Amino acid sequence: MMTKFTQLLAVVLITAITCISCKNDNAELLYPPDVCDTSNVTYSNTILPILRDNCYRCHAGNQTVAPFHLDSYADASLVALSGHMYGAITHSSGYNAMPKDSDKLSDCNIAKIKKWIDDGAPNN
Ligand code: HEC
Repeated sequence: MMTKFTQLLAVVLITAITCISCKNDNAELLYPPDVCDTSNVTYSNTILPILRDNCYRCHAGNQTVAPFHLDSYADASLVALSGHMYGAITHSSGYNAMPKDSDKLSDCNIAKIKKWIDDGAPNN
């Protein structure tokens, strides 16, 4: 009786361990690591939507929350090329962290903004 129970326990345990290890083996295939594509970054298709979604509520239109606007190419590129935009979105010391009082932008959005700035913040 006891032997049967021990055998059953062993089978259950082996099955459980096998299932867990299978799951781990397939995790990479089922959930591939996020890929951040920065190869086609443009102001109009990439940067403007990020700024509109995360910054315009304070930095645009008739908002006076923030001391300057980011809703035109001229303003956005000026702030970008000054180094302040990258400093602010990466929460670097010496800069006010942006978006103010919100979660940091995703790593991918930060990478896209960095790419645009490194390219010279073109109006494309
Ligand atoms: C909730 C309102 C709010 C949002 C959203 C916001 N800002 Fe700001 N931003 C401010 C205010 C207010 C300041 C003035 C400094 C301060 O009070 O922190 C500022 C300052 C800045 C500065 C100057 C920082 C420095 O220290 O040089 C930059 C650059 C900036 N914002 C960029 C952005 C960008 C880019 C986004 C979107 C990713 C954004 N902000 C979103 C309110 C906001």
